[in-house]
Amino acid sequence: MDALTNLFSRRSVRKYKRKPVEFEKLLNILDAGRLAPNAGNVQDWKFLVVTDKDKLEKLNEASLEQDWINEAPLAILICSESVKEERMYGPRGKNVYSIQNASCAAENMLLAAHAEGLGGCWVGSFDEKTILEVFSIPEDVIPRAILTFGYPDEKPEEKPKFSLYDVTFFNKWNNKVKDKAEFKKIFTELLTVIGEQAKKLTRFLPKKS
Ligand SMILES: Cc1cc2nc3c(=O)[nH]c(=O)nc-3n(C[C@H](O)[C@H](O)[C@H](O)COP(=O)(O)O)c2cc1C
Repeated sequence: MDALTNLFSRRSVRKYKRKPVEFEKLLNILDAGRLAPNAGNVQDWKFLVVTDKDKLEKLNEASLEQDWINEAPLAILICSESVKEERMYGPRGKNVYSIQNASCAAENMLLAAHAEGLGGCWVGSFDEKTILEVFSIPEDVIPRAILTFGYPDEKPEEKPKFSLYDVTFFNKWNNKVKDKAEFKKIFTELLTVIGEQAKKLTRFLPKKS
């Protein structure tokens, strides 16, 4: 699967087969996280792999009982040692970069899992204090995300998403492309439009134009 097909076909999967996940696939998921972009290459993350059934149940309890979590064969808890980013970049390192780093690792892992034929889901809703206790995590480490993984036992539809027209501005806040003539102005020398891709320009236009 090429990278774009992988990206466009990923969905959050919350129902898994009982089939165990191959160790090589887990390694690739972890490596995808390890190689994610991060501020200053500080790599202030730790990945805690959860395979123990009791611990998966505890994750479920800590995550406001989203019951499907303990049915997952595998979960990875992404944690930040934010003090490392703070040392390098001060408050912005701690409050912004550290969260962004963990998010980059998480998305890389979800995409790697999908490329391996696995499904995954990001769980952000959990009680941090319980997580620290259950996994004996030091208090200065911040649990950022739980990712569950397994062979999909559901094929989720694409969730409703905003269109490119809704979410994209050009060169100035709120500046959307109103018609095709305006495109010609924007896509001039710096941006070229080729073949099939040209048809996709309509994605930037309001629905009726
Ligand atoms: C920061 C964050 C927190 C999330 N927390 C949860 C969660 O607690 N439980 C859950 O079922 N899904 C959670 N999700 C998954 C989203 O619900 C899902 O990505 C979104 O509905 C879009 O669906 P898609 O991933 O299939 O495109 C979370 C995703 C992110 C990025």
